[in-house]
Amino acid sequence: MDRREFLESIALSAAAMTGRRVIAPLEALVRAEFAPQSTTAFVPNVELELTARPAHHEILSGAPTGTWSYSGKLLKGRAGALEDSGSYLGPAIHLRKGDRVRVHFRNELPETTIVHWHGLAVPAPMDGHPRLVIPTGAQYLYEFEVQDRAGHYWYHPHPDDRTGPQVYRGLAGHLFVSDDEESSLRLPSGEHEIPLVIQDRTFDSDQQLTYISGHMDAMTGFLGERILVNGTPDKQLKLATGAYRLRILNGSNSRIYKLAWNNGMPFTLIGTDGGLLDRPLRKPYLVLSPAERVDVILDLSGQTVGSSLELLSLPFPAPQMMMGRGMGRGMGRGMMGGVGLEQGSEFRILRVRIEKKEKAGFRLPARLSQTGFHRPQEAENASQPRVFPLSFMRMQWFLNGSTFEMDAVKENETFKAGSIQALEFRNTSMGMMQMAHPMHLHGGQFQVLKRTPAAGTDGMAASLHEGLTDEGWKDTVLVLPGQQVRLLMRFPQFTGLYLYHCHILEHEDMGMMRNYRLI
Ligand code: C2O
Ligand code: CU
Ligand code: CU
Repeated sequence: MDRREFLESIALSAAAMTGRRVIAPLEALVRAEFAPQSTTAFVPNVELELTARPAHHEILSGAPTGTWSYSGKLLKGRAGALEDSGSYLGPAIHLRKGDRVRVHFRNELPETTIVHWHGLAVPAPMDGHPRLVIPTGAQYLYEFEVQDRAGHYWYHPHPDDRTGPQVYRGLAGHLFVSDDEESSLRLPSGEHEIPLVIQDRTFDSDQQLTYISGHMDAMTGFLGERILVNGTPDKQLKLATGAYRLRILNGSNSRIYKLAWNNGMPFTLIGTDGGLLDRPLRKPYLVLSPAERVDVILDLSGQTVGSSLELLSLPFPAPQMMMGRGMGRGMGRGMMGGVGLEQGSEFRILRVRIEKKEKAGFRLPARLSQTGFHRPQEAENASQPRVFPLSFMRMQWFLNGSTFEMDAVKENETFKAGSIQALEFRNTSMGMMQMAHPMHLHGGQFQVLKRTPAAGTDGMAASLHEGLTDEGWKDTVLVLPGQQVRLLMRFPQFTGLYLYHCHILEHEDMGMMRNYRLI
């Protein structure tokens, strides 16, 4: 088989699996040969190698589980810039604002892929657009400067139609950015700073991962039966009576968590997707939809040694498949025989055991950061936001009235680079099918200006709205059924094609994703 036949066979088998778009992936494969070449003008201070490949990891005790995982190697830069995860997850990447980063990415998967740096504002060729996917055995060179605030970002694959299964098999990792403002706060660090990624997975009797089967499941989104934290089931943290900084990422394909402590203690929220808030906030519970992050302080100074604490996901009503009266939620899984943990179920995420005494010393500053928020009047279209409906028709999710097209951009999807724009997502969810959609924009962070009606039009929004984190910089915002969410975003100075999409990865793969173009 020559190269072209090989590429075609991949494209065709991918299309056969999903029944959509044969042409686009093939074009993308051919175009990948134009992956960026290093330029001598770019001098990196952090340089690393990142490879995606099949692997095995012991997740449940007994037989190892086959995964797809990122592995990395630091070629140049601060020691600690790359930190092994100890699980199927990719290494955590630790960067500083201003770093000039070069990544040699290598695809050793049996299918095409590309890496996206979720939350960062990078030039379009560095953003991991699906048309930039590279075939098996190929390399992609990333070069970008970190211009973003200190925050908890992450990286994951972004091929068209295959992001859900690739992330599901294990391809994801934390990406932390720090800056001087954050460092000056002396927040808990070292053993007192704990990255947590929450994911749900389903295993078969051979301890292998099983994924969705069919269109029905894809419409609802994958919901796993086991909750994993940092790649581990029944996660336990053994902590002391001090203060901890928990940096939590929802790395699940579709599951929304309503995080709460079992003893009723509120959360002290200090940051969101795009970094620190201006000041700490108390929240009775926190809602974390796919791809969202929260940064919280857990102060255990009042706890006794030997006691324990549980992080739970509280129950909430989740109308996922409202196919008229009588056909309630869970139709996709419940009726198709999946026993699974439904969206909105109650379960434990992890257990904290307080194992030793430590002298208290940490005081959380009342002021955390300068958010640098824009004023709504600064938007080019302050009184006339660009409106993007989220809708459901013909057993398919739509964004802005269409599904994904590899190169297409509509008129209302074009913005001036560097401009400030008001945008509005409308979850129309009329009758047929209602779901909450975590909407994500590439190209950086936005502010949430308002949400109407605040408590939504159903029980789900009412049950979740106190735990939303609309106060900080966001790149992903949960748009509840019946809601309109208005955003303010300054687009990056770069030009080219970027994406916006639902971060329920099965919705993204079904085409609930669109391009926007910066000119
Ligand atoms: Cu986290 Cu377009 O993705
Ligand atoms: Cu992203
Ligand atoms: Cu969605």
